[in-house]
Amino acid sequence: MKSSGNIKYTYFLVSCDLFYNEQNSCLSKIMIKRFGLFFSCAIAFVLAMNVLIAGCTGGGVSQGGGQKLVMATSADYPPYEFRDTAGGKNEIIGFDVDIAKFITTKLNYSLEIKDMDFNGLLPALQSKRVDFVMAGMTPTEERKKSVDFSDIYFEAKNTIVSVKGSNLKKIEDLAGKTVGVQLGSIQESEMKKEAEKVKIQLKPLNKIGEMIQEIKSKRLDAAIIEDTVAKGYVAANSDLEFNVVPNTEEAGSAIAFPKGSALAKPFNEVLQEMKRSGEIEKLVKKWFEK
Ligand code: ARG
Repeated sequence: MKSSGNIKYTYFLVSCDLFYNEQNSCLSKIMIKRFGLFFSCAIAFVLAMNVLIAGCTGGGVSQGGGQKLVMATSADYPPYEFRDTAGGKNEIIGFDVDIAKFITTKLNYSLEIKDMDFNGLLPALQSKRVDFVMAGMTPTEERKKSVDFSDIYFEAKNTIVSVKGSNLKKIEDLAGKTVGVQLGSIQESEMKKEAEKVKIQLKPLNKIGEMIQEIKSKRLDAAIIEDTVAKGYVAANSDLEFNVVPNTEEAGSAIAFPKGSALAKPFNEVLQEMKRSGEIEKLVKKWFEK
């Protein structure tokens, strides 16, 4: 309402100008006053336009006002997030990135993406160095103690990735094997529990790509990777295979926020709207069904 006050003030100046002009016969003073009148009118016009524009964009949707939000991710996870290096580019793209762009655009924020190790994502949220995380991250009870989550937007299952012909189909088959998991992932925590029952040698690594290389060079017998991601890596490496682990808990993905973040509610509303309108389905087709 500050600007409408300014407008009143400007109108006051304009009327003073007119009054003053009538009283004054000196030509140069009239010229100066006319200029004053012209500028007062111009300012009044600009202020009026401001009010108009503010009125048009002031609805509930445009809460961000163009402000920048920083999203952190671990871009080693195609098709959720990965680096597109085609044609000399080096851009982070994927399913999560498209969802993040849709939501931030809708809420009138601009978006910056920060790439880091998966293990660094929760600390980045806790120290509020970033505004939110999208990294195919599963909302576990343990994580909920330190960060807030949106609803789940996609479900996944765990698989065992290994060299073709290894025939590693269930957790029991991993007895005596060296198995890779991503550091800080639910695959790491779940396999730690399994390793107490089945004799598995666990090897946590920072990047999914490293685990794939380690399997190919036989330093790992297998790695536990979610189905959609495993499918992509196996398609790109014909010497590998993957088998879905039977009866495992589903690993859904959700958006994570610092605890108490005011973004969680509006983000979740847009996410629900994306589910209802078929936008999520469209992106699932674009990224997972090719
Ligand atoms: N869903 C699993 C988790 O939350 C794995 C996610 C890994 N994501 C990634 N961008 N590397 O732990």
